[in-house]
Amino acid sequence: MRITLTGATGFLGRQLTEALRGEGHELRILSRRIPGEPGFYAWDPPAGPPPPESLEGAGAVIHLAGEPVAQRWTKAARERIRRSRVDGTRNLVETLSRLAVRPEVLVSASAMGYYGSRGDEVLTEDSPAGRGFLPEVCREWEAAADAAAELGIRVVKLRLGVVLGKGGGALAKMLPAFRAGAGGPLAGGKQWMSWIHVEDAVRLMAWSAGQSSVRGALNAVSPNPIQNKDFTKALGGVLRRPAVFPVPQAALQLLFGEMAEILTGSQRAEPRVALAAGFRFRHEDVVESLRSLLY
Ligand SMILES: NC(=O)c1ccc[n+]([C@@H]2O[C@H](COP(=O)([O-])OP(=O)(O)OC[C@H]3O[C@@H](n4cnc5c(N)ncnc54)[C@H](OP(=O)(O)O)[C@@H]3O)[C@@H](O)[C@H]2O)c1
Repeated sequence: MRITLTGATGFLGRQLTEALRGEGHELRILSRRIPGEPGFYAWDPPAGPPPPESLEGAGAVIHLAGEPVAQRWTKAARERIRRSRVDGTRNLVETLSRLAVRPEVLVSASAMGYYGSRGDEVLTEDSPAGRGFLPEVCREWEAAADAAAELGIRVVKLRLGVVLGKGGGALAKMLPAFRAGAGGPLAGGKQWMSWIHVEDAVRLMAWSAGQSSVRGALNAVSPNPIQNKDFTKALGGVLRRPAVFPVPQAALQLLFGEMAEILTGSQRAEPRVALAAGFRFRHEDVVESLRSLLY
């Protein structure tokens, strides 16, 4: 199948690209950076609609592009985070609306941030959005993707949890402190982390693109969310390092400002839609997942 990707140069996109090429798909890549290779098209998501030739003949579009969220949320950063996703997705759908033949499916990234911080509540795809900056961005981002459904395109919104993978994402940020034996629970450690192994995240993207019965929101998380204190123990154990230095909420607030909520917020989500539609996770256990990534 011909598939158009955005965010293909990122942490998830690079692994998705490799997997899809391995399955023999023909890829077109929309990027702000053009390496001079065939198959790449220039597009800056918030600046305007992508060129139609990048999307013509595509059976599926997988849309991952967005300004990184893990940075201090200054006024300018908030604007980049919001515009890259909301205006970017609107611009993508604008070009899709102009195509004579439209793709069958748009798989668009979203995030657990949609739910905000919810303590011990079990979250399914039907749970309402939370309140605050990230839930609002996610809600607008998803609404922009939903506009493609009005064009007759099947829309899948992947609410991704913390993706555990090599060479990027949350794990790469945590490893230096944990390897130095300076890891520890954050802000009391009771908050739930909904995580997914990168291999399953990539499989879920390709799988949802191919499942005609799957549409709407889909929690892209393993069936076993874990509290931060237990994740800390698991990572320390796999690395054979002590992980007993608690980091209080006030220190996180001082270091990261409001963005600290991505470390202290609690999302205990279930992948209900994926399981009901028959998706089988390869990595359900966090210790096994960490071992597979670190050794
Ligand atoms: N990784 C996770 O744990 C996780 C968790 C929840 C949700 N997600 C979401 O899943 C998507 C992919 O995640 P990722 O970790 O692979 O992200 P990433 O490594 O940060 O890559 C995202 C891609 O977005 C493009 N991009 C970056 N800044 C941009 C900007 N200001 N305007 C427009 N495009 C920009 C870049 O592509 P070009 O440079 O080629 O244009 C980049 O390669 C993101 O939308 C992210 O929010 C990820």
